[in-house]
Amino acid sequence: MFCITYSKKVFISSLAGLFIISVFLAEAPAAARAKLWPRMCASCHDGETALSKEALREKYPTVEVFTAAVMDKGARCMNILRNDRKLIKKIANEIGIKDSEEK
Ligand code: HEC
Repeated sequence: MFCITYSKKVFISSLAGLFIISVFLAEAPAAARAKLWPRMCASCHDGETALSKEALREKYPTVEVFTAAVMDKGARCMNILRNDRKLIKKIANEIGIKDSEEK
């Protein structure tokens, strides 16, 4: 009798465990796809304080022009980005801006 109750508990808790794990696995790819923009840019680039990502994507169709804009036009509060072209490119791709070669 004890054994049966015990194994039922184990079964239910492992189901719960599997459920939690699968929720995390489902979330992971989305988080990996869009992690820089929300963390580093979205707080200001919300369409009110500064241009939204949609507006930036429209204004700067390629990674090159986007990078140039970040380096020349960005506000002083964006200085941490200036010398990191790789990071800028990642963010550009993340918000849907294309490398010029792909055009
Ligand atoms: C602390 C606030 C803040 C953060 C964080 C920030 N920006 Fe900005 N950004 C601004 C402001 C304000 C402007 C507008 C500057 C102006 O109009 O002179 C701007 C301008 C820009 C521009 C030029 C837009 C234009 O055409 O006028 C680009 C491109 C840009 N930001 C990209 C980024 C990216 C990419 C990130 C994240 C890695 C980022 N910014 C993070 C505040 C911020």
